[in-house]
Amino acid sequence: MPSKKRGAAPPPIAPSRLLRWLRKGKYRERYVPEPAAHPSAGPHGGYVRTWYSPRLVDDLAADREPFRRSAAMVKELFFGDPGATQPEGFAVMRRVGGRRRTGPGAWYYYETLRRDGRNAYVGRGLRVCANCHAGGRDFLLSEFRPSTEQGSARETQPPEVPPSRRSVGAANGRL
Ligand code: HEC
Repeated sequence: MPSKKRGAAPPPIAPSRLLRWLRKGKYRERYVPEPAAHPSAGPHGGYVRTWYSPRLVDDLAADREPFRRSAAMVKELFFGDPGATQPEGFAVMRRVGGRRRTGPGAWYYYETLRRDGRNAYVGRGLRVCANCHAGGRDFLLSEFRPSTEQGSARETQPPEVPPSRRSVGAANGRL
């Protein structure tokens, strides 16, 4: 499915364009977010909320791994108030290699702990990021899986646990 519509575009690679895109919240138009900010289990700061690009959502729904070129995640970082409208920092990963390509070099990484982008980590295959992310599903560490209403991955069996119990479980569960 072509997802070339504006808000679905992957994060720009050039750091200054990327920072502008992040600060404007362009990803919020079409990317799919975790339900809420939550404490980070990694080194990214107090609270985090990750947004998945439409292409990544499709890949997860279709069980496609590695993900396709340009599949991307944007992580918002909140060091104080997790409910703040503007994140204080951002972490981004975008797949730059085709599907034959595996390993750290298949990803572009960016992270800034400040809204002005100073001292950002930027680059393809950055070891400082990849070493830890290599443990994920094609480098994706978050366990959030967007629900897929678009057909292909629709459940045919009724869920074993009623939905109300399931949401209680999710609220008490890990990440
Ligand atoms: C020591 C481990 C570790 C390192 C190093 C690390 N991360 Fe992460 N990262 C995590 C964990 C754990 C998560 C899952 C969410 C959370 O708890 O923060 C995550 C989530 C993310 C996400 C959201 C997508 C996903 O994979 O869940 C992005 C984007 C991201 N990190 C970017 C980066 C970048 C860029 C760097 C390097 C500058 C980096 N990370 C370094 C542990 C790490």
